[in-house]
Amino acid sequence: MKPKYYITTPIYYPSGDWHLGHCYTTTVCDAFARFNRMKGKDVFFLTGTDEHGQKIAQKAAEAGMQPKPFIDGLVDKLKEIWKLMDISYDKFIRTTDEEHVLSVQKIFEKLYEKGEIYKSEYEGWYCTPCESFWTESQLVDGKCPDCGREVTREKEESYFFRLSKYTDRILKLYEENPEFLQPKSRVNEMVNNFLKPGLSDLCVSRTSFDWGIPVSFDKKHVVYVWIDALTNYISALGYGGEDTSLFDRYWPADVHMTAKEIIRFHAIIWPAILMALDLPLPKQVYGHGWLLIGGDKMSKSKTDKIKTELVHPKALCDRYGSDAVRYFLLREIPFGSDGVYTNEALLKRINADLANDLGNLASRTQAMITQYFGGTLPKFGETGAEDSELIAECEALFGRVDAAMTALNVPDALTEIFKVVQRANKYIDETMPWALAKDESKKARLATVLYNLAETIRLVAVMLKPYLTKSPDVILDSLGIDPATVTDFSSAHFGVLAAGSTVKKTAPLFPRIDINKELADVEKTVLAEKAAKKANEKAKTHERKQKPEITIDDFDKVQLKVALVLAAEKVEKSDRLLKIRVRLGDEERTVVSGIQKNYAPEYLVGKKVVMVTNLKPVKLRGIESQGMIVCAENEEGKLAFLSPETDIEDGSEIF
Ligand code: ME8
Ligand code: MG
Repeated sequence: MKPKYYITTPIYYPSGDWHLGHCYTTTVCDAFARFNRMKGKDVFFLTGTDEHGQKIAQKAAEAGMQPKPFIDGLVDKLKEIWKLMDISYDKFIRTTDEEHVLSVQKIFEKLYEKGEIYKSEYEGWYCTPCESFWTESQLVDGKCPDCGREVTREKEESYFFRLSKYTDRILKLYEENPEFLQPKSRVNEMVNNFLKPGLSDLCVSRTSFDWGIPVSFDKKHVVYVWIDALTNYISALGYGGEDTSLFDRYWPADVHMTAKEIIRFHAIIWPAILMALDLPLPKQVYGHGWLLIGGDKMSKSKTDKIKTELVHPKALCDRYGSDAVRYFLLREIPFGSDGVYTNEALLKRINADLANDLGNLASRTQAMITQYFGGTLPKFGETGAEDSELIAECEALFGRVDAAMTALNVPDALTEIFKVVQRANKYIDETMPWALAKDESKKARLATVLYNLAETIRLVAVMLKPYLTKSPDVILDSLGIDPATVTDFSSAHFGVLAAGSTVKKTAPLFPRIDINKELADVEKTVLAEKAAKKANEKAKTHERKQKPEITIDDFDKVQLKVALVLAAEKVEKSDRLLKIRVRLGDEERTVVSGIQKNYAPEYLVGKKVVMVTNLKPVKLRGIESQGMIVCAENEEGKLAFLSPETDIEDGSEIF
């Protein structure tokens, strides 16, 4: 039986604003998956989406939708990106999948029965957007240390996982398995920041929101992010379900690939959960660095601010092709460290490595074989002094690439391949085939030179297949090889190509880009796109829907009352929302209303408004909105609240 290889990406939040940074882990994993498939391994490559939690429920509510259908649309968008980037995942898991939900419930039950989870009370500073509780000492200037936003003091009944008791076992794990956590620098980070101070028990359930997996034996709790998200790596294999054949085959994972901001969860919490479940641990966890933009981690808020960089995978693939984008990600970012994205850095990479080095080598070789030998690969002729070094480099290539990949170092693997490309270009300069072609007596030498070049680009194409998914096939095809037949590395050595093969010219693999012109064009396009997006969003919010007919009973479900505005203020960091305190007779409530653009808060105070009072409360920006103020809206999005025509007591019913 083939050896197995199980590799995972983190599961992605359904943000909808995916940028090139998000493609990094997935592209790296894809390269490993393809490489190991070609090495003859039985690969299982998992990716997916992390769909629960308050943040996404809130976004859905703001869009006026239920969470699941809202997320479905976003998941489709993410899958389109993976298709565009040629990500060859074997399974896409969603944490809303039934098999995952059942698996998580089973895991939670099991941990509870074993005494690994207990019920207590949690109190701390909570950041709603980050869904994180923080201790006093973790706050930075009293704000969330991750996003810098306001935190609120919250207290609730929670279940806890006994993480604290695993401190020593995790330390021992790192000591006994120096390969477990990579790169090595991350080990010190974990040991010094978390393990040496001692781990605290971990809050693993919440009662303050309900968009999550219910705890099966205590339904007012939903499982909180860690047990829900991390367990995807085993639920995807059927753990806890009826058919565990995938789990039996693939677990433990060979590599969990993650970014450094979530390494703690993968290198501490996840192994502890697995220990508590008596399951084998993943063989390796890799915490890679970030793709930076404008000096910070590429993120939605950062890319919104930077107006002129192209960061959306679709736009990038449309312009330069997925191979160029994949190449940039895999090569430019030193593995384990951060790397900087700019349009210019991408264009320079494309021109230098792909257009000049690789593209030129392929097109010169094709052109010379076509010109000097009518497109038929010449029979092996006469060897020369220049050959041995090139051939030796080619023979050594697979071993070098394999070593780099085993060390999880993708940029080094590519560097090795491109060294051979550069060596072959140098070989052309040394042998000067155009000079040989002028002299009939040198024909045999010319034949060998061109054979060696054709053979080098064949080998390079084979070796590039895990990293680039399109151009290697074009190269193989130009050499008369059916790319579909190249599925492994059995031909990853020198001297495979048969003399007499037909070689044809192809369009340039990577046309050279005029960088200044392209940068100016990108800038113009990005600015125009941002403006169009803004206009589109505006138009969308004002789209009118024709609603279906309802009965008086339907209407009767809605409770409307007259409310008196007692106070109103802007919601911090929102240019749309007002927090409004109202009185309804002998009752007071708070509502959050999107009318900031139309009304100054002080104008509203003392006004009587119409309010829906039996709407299920939602949290907006951390504030619970207990109803809705009814407004009229015109085509331009101007809002006007409604008021009783003559004065009437607040709390009066409307029907
Ligand atoms: O963290 N550079 O999801 P997420 C490099 N759901 N990689 C980046 C990046 C950047 N600028 N931005 C994002 C989550 N990524 C959790 C994970 S796993 C059990 C739960 C990558 O959508 C990076 O790998 O915020 C990050 O971990 C991943 O996108 C998902 O980020
Ligand atoms: Mg994140």
